[in-house]
Amino acid sequence: MPEQLQIAQSDEPLYLLSNMANRHGLVAGATGTGKTVTLQVMAESFSRIGVPVFAADVKGDLSGISQPGVDNPKIAARVTQMQLADFAFAGCPVTFWDVFGEQGHPIRATVSEMGPLLFSRLLGLNDTQEGVLALVFKIADDNGLLLLDLKDLQAMLRHVGDNAKDFQTQYGNISAASIGAIQRGLVALEQQGGAKFLGEPALNLDDMMQTDANGQGVVNILAADKLINSPKLYATFLLWMLTELFEKLPEAGDPDKPKLVFFFDEAHLLFTDLPKVIQDKVQQVVRLIRSKGVGIYFVTQNPIDVPDEVLGQLGNRVQHALRAFTPRDQKAVKAAAQTFRTNPKINIETVITELGVGEALVSFLDDKGTPNVVERALICPPHSQIGPITPEQRKQIMASSLVAGVYETVVDRESAYELLQARAGSGAVAAPVQAGGQAAAPAAAAPAERPWYDIPGITTKSGRGDTLVETVAKTAVRTVGVAVGRQLVRGLMGSLLGGSGTKRRG
Ligand SMILES: Nc1ncnc2c1ncn2[C@@H]1O[C@H](COP(=O)(O)OP(=O)(O)OP(=O)(O)O)[C@@H](O)[C@H]1O
Ligand SMILES: [Mg+2]
Repeated sequence: MPEQLQIAQSDEPLYLLSNMANRHGLVAGATGTGKTVTLQVMAESFSRIGVPVFAADVKGDLSGISQPGVDNPKIAARVTQMQLADFAFAGCPVTFWDVFGEQGHPIRATVSEMGPLLFSRLLGLNDTQEGVLALVFKIADDNGLLLLDLKDLQAMLRHVGDNAKDFQTQYGNISAASIGAIQRGLVALEQQGGAKFLGEPALNLDDMMQTDANGQGVVNILAADKLINSPKLYATFLLWMLTELFEKLPEAGDPDKPKLVFFFDEAHLLFTDLPKVIQDKVQQVVRLIRSKGVGIYFVTQNPIDVPDEVLGQLGNRVQHALRAFTPRDQKAVKAAAQTFRTNPKINIETVITELGVGEALVSFLDDKGTPNVVERALICPPHSQIGPITPEQRKQIMASSLVAGVYETVVDRESAYELLQARAGSGAVAAPVQAGGQAAAPAAAAPAERPWYDIPGITTKSGRGDTLVETVAKTAVRTVGVAVGRQLVRGLMGSLLGGSGTKRRG
């Protein structure tokens, strides 16, 4: 049975329906209007019905969701005003993650998992440079050289650069300038701390989809206060997570409740300077991931920061106050107003600018998937603490988490860097690569393990330390399970690359 999650109240309680939660949502509003608390109230509600949540915590103030709230006059007033009969303070089970490994468990991806396309975006490469990077991935692939961490990619670039002439006949022209540009990009990435994010053990998405002993969904909080200073890294990272989810999760049909709910705070960063091809793919992934039981909620100051095609897919909406000072503000107010199903009692454009803190225009989908008429409503107070926890509390939670110790130690197994070094050391530059069991495995697994944004035949996945047999076995199972989705992914791939795919391989 679907469940009703009370998020707000006008004359009547306003419910987000659990079986409509995968139709995505939007939380928008000017700074200080209550977006984070609304996110917190939604996340708590999902957690209570056993749905795991992922949320990026840009200001550190979402961490309070791990603690029961404390009584204060404002909350008490809201509880009374909204007549919330059995309101009780409670915290949620939380797992903290951090790309830099400081405020949470380290979260990593391998270079191969990221793939040349996302990498190019991360490094800000042009088409020519992107083409060369794709070749470097392919050469690594063809030679059984695993690309796991940043030094693997650096070693591989050096190798390809040094031997550009030898590779030319088989792979086409590889310009020294492009190699140089990519290398400079990697140095910059390293300075931003990107090296920490690349390598093994890579994130196992199952670790984000847990419930605790009481059946509550675990709220996964990504510490993003530092990450947000590198907006491209932040956006690429979240994009990678989204694509991983899309790729890994089986079709879920129309579940009573989502498998996972994903909150994108500062969502405008995701779309800033995003090349049209990737933007189109984001839009497609947002549309298709619904059937995998994943709900995506964008949180942003201004709804016009989200492209129309994506905005149109966000069914559940909470619009906090907007200012209407500048022409751009006014445009945003108009745009926001137009996205709601009108209510004769409400002049949306006027009300948007008048809303108080923790008050919003709310429209959730009804049980047929149609947006309800917009209501002016108070958002429920959270059951958990508003504002950040102490560093000690964070440490304690990290120490007792389900994944404590799993990701803390970097594993640096034999991959491109080590193999190329060994070869240089032995002086046998032209000798065939001694791939060994581990290196050969991902090559065998490549067809089923490749993310949608990668170029077919160009990358391998890490295999995450599996032996050859394990990898092949897993691949076989996955191939059966995801055959249909896979075709779809291939279809996306084809349209993504269009004509330039052949050009860049020539
Ligand atoms: N639903 C609510 N119940 C109780 N208090 C609330 C609620 N919403 C907001 N508040 C109060 O308003 C303050 C600001 O809200 P919040 O931090 O969510 O704003 P924001 O829109 O996320 O701001 P920013 O853009 O700066 O991140 C909160 O610290 C809290 O005190
Ligand atoms: Mg906020």
